Order: sequence, then structure tokens, then C-alpha cells
Amino acid sequence: MILFFIFLLFLSAISPDNECPYRYRFYADTAICYHLSDDLYDFDGAVRYCEGTGGKLVSLIQGERAGIASEPNPTNGDCVTFKGVASNFGLQTTQCYQQQYAFCKIVPDLCNGGIQNGTFGSIQSPQYPNQYYNKLMCLYYIYAPQGFRVNIYFPQIQTEKNYDFVEIYEKNSTLYPDRIVGLSGNLTDYTYQSNGSFLLVVFRTNYVITDIGFYATWNVERIQPLIISNTTNSGELTSPNYPEDYDTFDKQLYYIQVAEGGRINVTIDDFLTQETFDYLDIFDSFNQSSKVVRLSGNSVAPWSWFSTSNVVSLKFVSDGSYQYKGWHLTWNMI
Ligand SMILES: *[C@@H]1O[C@H](CO)[C@@H](O)[C@H](O)[C@H]1NC(C)=O
Ligand SMILES: *[C@@H]1O[C@H](CO)[C@@H](O)[C@H](O)[C@H]1NC(C)=O
Ligand SMILES: *[C@@H]1O[C@H](CO)[C@@H](O)[C@H](O)[C@H]1NC(C)=O
Ligand SMILES: *[C@@H]1O[C@H](CO)[C@@H](O)[C@H](O)[C@H]1NC(C)=O
Ligand SMILES: *[C@@H]1O[C@H](CO)[C@@H](O)[C@H](O)[C@H]1NC(C)=O
Ligand SMILES: *[C@@H]1O[C@H](CO)[C@@H](O)[C@H](O)[C@H]1NC(C)=O
Ligand SMILES: *[C@@H]1O[C@H](CO)[C@@H](O)[C@H](O)[C@H]1NC(C)=O
Repeated sequence: MILFFIFLLFLSAISPDNECPYRYRFYADTAICYHLSDDLYDFDGAVRYCEGTGGKLVSLIQGERAGIASEPNPTNGDCVTFKGVASNFGLQTTQCYQQQYAFCKIVPDLCNGGIQNGTFGSIQSPQYPNQYYNKLMCLYYIYAPQGFRVNIYFPQIQTEKNYDFVEIYEKNSTLYPDRIVGLSGNLTDYTYQSNGSFLLVVFRTNYVITDIGFYATWNVERIQPLIISNTTNSGELTSPNYPEDYDTFDKQLYYIQVAEGGRINVTIDDFLTQETFDYLDIFDSFNQSSKVVRLSGNSVAPWSWFSTSNVVSLKFVSDGSYQYKGWHLTWNMI
């Protein structure tokens, strides 16, 4: 007979909770719900009792305590049951006809993942900002409309470093070669932009140590190829569809380039966008980390500006509501 002292710990660590069905209790280390019967049963009776509660009899064979290589020991019998609740805790091998307490388990669904679609949303780890659970594998599917990509922003990620991961995929796969990034430990302000209209976030935790997990918001933007304007010494650019209304969730980038040594004279002669929410950013470089100006609303045109070098870039952004005709600009080399 073998006793499993781990169950001493089990009985003390257990606490009332919402994770489990009636009369079951949650054990954080295994992330499993357990229940011990009040009455005694033989092995087959215990199996039936547990099934009656919606669970299964805890069994060595099913790997609950794998690693106890010598059990079941046929000298004691062929069946494994819970020994008792008094001084002798644990599982033991017994004769199958022996009357024992039925020790049942249910693996609860602790994940809060699922499918999201549309143009914006948010996801978070189970229980966030409280501690997540051990042994999770939660899947969060995000579908943008066709022709759009997904921007996802994680203000904060806090997991057991190198063991609990927030993973990003661009296909419906959780295989390592398909993983784009695996984030763990303490991170802030992480952003990712998908190439296509699908994103899968996977939250994977191991069997020990938890933290608060993650929170993320996502939105979409139209997939629009960069527009390059480098024809001779002058040109014009417009918002998408101009003079018809631009689209929702635009994010159109433009590059203007003239010969080395030249500068660019940019003039906007028509401009109408939704104030604040739909805007045109202008950059004195191809690097869009720091803008010259953000133009928005109905009182921008006429507007004029000279670049300091031979390259200028622009970014036009619209949100999901109120589309207008947008803008028209001309440029020439000076
Ligand atoms: C988006 O989600 C809603 C609600 O879950 C569902 O009714 C709809 O069919 C989904 N649309 C697509 C394109 O998956
Ligand atoms: C992802 O793939 C699995 C297995 O191929 C499939 O069962 C599941 O429905 C897919 N889920 C989504 C959201 O596409
Ligand atoms: C992560 O951040 C929290 C709160 O800011 C801090 O308590 C914890 O020590 C940090 N963990 C690591 C591994 O830096
Ligand atoms: C996204 O597109 C970029 C540029 O084409 C490419 O380098 C990258 O591998 C793509 N990523 C995925 C996940 O397809
Ligand atoms: C203009 O841009 C196109 C596309 O990037 C490029 O192939 C071409 O060489 C450029 N022309 C000049 C004059 O820079
Ligand atoms: C800049 O462009 C505007 C509009 O085309 C034009 O009136 C002005 O003369 C240009 N300035 C220079 C220095 O080229
Ligand atoms: C863009 O400019 C910022 C600030 O000047 C710099 O930190 C960053 O490295 C630049 N990015 C590229 C791609 O050159």
C-alpha cells in the first residue's frame, strides 16, 4: 500500500470557489475540481457514483499521479481507490470489492477565450487582474473583416517568466513553427499588427506559479498598399476615393521623393475630415516617428509647407464613423 502525502496538502489548500460544480472544490496546483463522497463504495460503485456527479473517479491509470511506477501493486488488489479522510490519507491499491470513499474529479473549463469579430474588442486572461490559473491553454480568435488587418495592444503583460506565455499566431495553429512571438515575464505597451485579417492569441500556462496575466485591446485598419509619388518634379495626392468620401478605418501611407538635394513644396487646396478622429499626419522624413503636423477638420485648406530634405511622408487615418470627401494636395520640387 502506498500513501500519497501530497493529499495532505491538497486537503488544506482546497477552498470554496466558483470554478467547480456543486460539492466539488478547486485545487489550484492541478487546476482540477475534486469531490469526496460521504458514503463508501466498491470500485465499480465508486466509478458510477463519480459519473453520477458529472465527474470521473480519480485514477492512477489516467495519469493523475503518474510516476508512481510500482502501482497498482497486484498483491494489494487490482483497483485504486482513495484510502480515507482520517489519519491515513491518499490513494491505495485495494481489492476491487473493498468499500472505499469515491474520490472524483472534474477538469473545469477555466478559459475565457473564443471568437471575436467586427472592428474592435478586448481580451484578457482568466480572472484578470487577479491571478490566472495553472495549466491553461486559452485560445482567443480575432477575425477582422476581409481586407482589414488587426492591431492589438497589450498595455500590460505579467506572467511567470519563461514558463507562462502570451503567444501570437496568424493562422489557426498553436504549433511552435507558426508562433510569431511568445511573450512572458513583465512587459508593457506591446503592440502587434497582423498582415492578414486573422489573429490568434494563445495564453499558455504551466503547472506552477501564476501572476495577473494580460489585458489587450484590438481594432482594425484597412489593408492599403503604400502610395509612392516620385514622378518628375511635381505631383498630386488625395485621400482614398477623393472627391468621393474616404472609407472607414483607412490607414493610407504616402511617400514623396524628389532628386537628392531638392526640397518639397506641399500645398493642400481642399480639406474636409471628421474633426480629431480622421486626420492627415505629415512627416519631414520617411520615418514616421515624429510628425510635423496633424491636420483635421474643416478649416485646414489652404495649407502650405516646405520640407527640409528630398523626402516627405504622409499618413491618412480614418475611424469607423462619419466619412467626408477628404483632401487634395499638390507638391513640387523647389
Ligand atoms: C461575428 O460574430 C457574430 C456574433 O458572435 C456572429 O453572429 C457572426 O456570424 C460573426 N460574423 C462572422 C463573419 O464570423
Ligand atoms: C481551428 O482549427 C481547429 C482544428 O483544425 C478547428 O476545430 C477549429 O474550428 C478552428 N477554429 C477556428 C476559430 O477557426
Ligand atoms: C513585475 O512587475 C510587478 C509589479 O510591477 C512586480 O511586483 C514584479 O516583481 C515584477 N516581476 C519581475 C519578474 O520583474
Ligand atoms: C508580414 O509581412 C512582412 C512583410 O511582407 C513579412 O516579412 C512577415 O514575415 C509577414 N508575417 C507573417 C506572420 O506573415
Ligand atoms: C519611384 O518609385 C518606384 C516604386 O518604388 C521605383 O521603382 C522608382 O525607381 C522610383 N523612381 C524614382 C525616380 O525614384
Ligand atoms: C508652392 O506651391 C504653391 C501651389 O502650387 C505655389 O503657389 C507656390 O508658388 C509654390 N512655392 C514654391 C516656392 O514653389
Ligand atoms: C525614426 O526616428 C526615431 C527618432 O528619431 C528613431 O529612434 C528611430 O530609430 C527611427 N526609425 C528608423 C526606422 O530609422
